[in-house]
Amino acid sequence: MFQMVSYRVPVLAGDGIGPEVMAEGIKVLDAASEVHGFEIEWVSYPYGAEHYLATGEILPDQALEEMSKSKAIYFAAVGDPRCPPGLLEQGIILKIRFHLDQYINLRPIRLLEGVPTPLKGKTTKDIDFSVVRENTEDMYVGLGGRAKKGRSRQELDLLRSLYSVKFGLDIETDHEEIAYQIMVISKLGAERVIRYSFEHAVKTGRNRVTSVDKANVLPEAYGFWREIFKKVSEDFPNIETEFSYVDAVTMWFVKNPEWFQVVVAPNMFGDIITDLGAMIQGGLGLAAGGNINPDGTSMFEPIHGSAPKYKGQNVANPVATILAGSMLLETLGQSKAAKTVESAVNKVLAQGKVRTRDLGGSSTTSNMGDVVAKEVLAGE
Ligand code: IPM
Ligand code: MG
Repeated sequence: MFQMVSYRVPVLAGDGIGPEVMAEGIKVLDAASEVHGFEIEWVSYPYGAEHYLATGEILPDQALEEMSKSKAIYFAAVGDPRCPPGLLEQGIILKIRFHLDQYINLRPIRLLEGVPTPLKGKTTKDIDFSVVRENTEDMYVGLGGRAKKGRSRQELDLLRSLYSVKFGLDIETDHEEIAYQIMVISKLGAERVIRYSFEHAVKTGRNRVTSVDKANVLPEAYGFWREIFKKVSEDFPNIETEFSYVDAVTMWFVKNPEWFQVVVAPNMFGDIITDLGAMIQGGLGLAAGGNINPDGTSMFEPIHGSAPKYKGQNVANPVATILAGSMLLETLGQSKAAKTVESAVNKVLAQGKVRTRDLGGSSTTSNMGDVVAKEVLAGE
């Protein structure tokens, strides 16, 4: 008997505009599964500000355990001014990334037809590259502390599925108080994401990988990153390579975005340059990303946050979430459906009749989702 392929996908719509953009993402993916003959069973989780304020719970391990049984999670945004700053971001987004070892953060920077870029004279041909951001280490390991005048001792533990590290610090200072933060780059951690960036270049027909760092100022950590990059690059003799300091990269993204093909960056710099990347591709309303563990559970999300001031107004652009959904379909193995969603978005934006506020129009969030879903159903 014919059995339709079905996928269980955990959904975290979260806070602010999250639920509004997520509703449109689901609408469009449901349309794509209908066209391509499979099914997605959406499993909603309530985590975010409301849940935290009502119960004190952020993200229980048991929910994480359940989510880890799926191949992909669909995530919108968390963060709310009523909660302590960073609490939900760290307790939900970063917790998922780290616990599920989603070591690749793939963020395509692509200007689509019909979308205005703030870069004068640049077109869709000039802005089309991928940033591969390391997603579990660097400054994000969250190891740090404070020490007051005198002697103190601090134990800092880093637990990853790849390895564990214990730092025992003897601190002695004659200064009133200091704060410190430790960054960690591991050989395996850097190696696997750099290798992915080269493989991604090969797969997408690109021939240059740019490595981003600040090895001139932080030679221990980023000198190590460079060594590993060089070693991995030897396995890809047909791919051109270069090193670029992060400050210079921000300049070149603006001046010559057409130069870039695949950019690989440590976590923190990857975070910073992808907000810039989102702007040159037309704004945060259009930028999507995937937190990928090729052998485990990945998570797909718009790069933007929860934008609390637009909550409930039906004005946010759902395209970033819809494009994140297209990446999710790819991970489920539904490449054709992923392409259908992407083409539908391209077509709707190129026609320019439906434009949300960020694109200078007055269409609503649900308007945009309806039109893209309709385009998906009409097929390519
Ligand atoms: C991002 C965000 C997150 C990050 C925050 C919300 C923890 O800025 O996904 O880029 O720093 O990675
Ligand atoms: Mg960011």
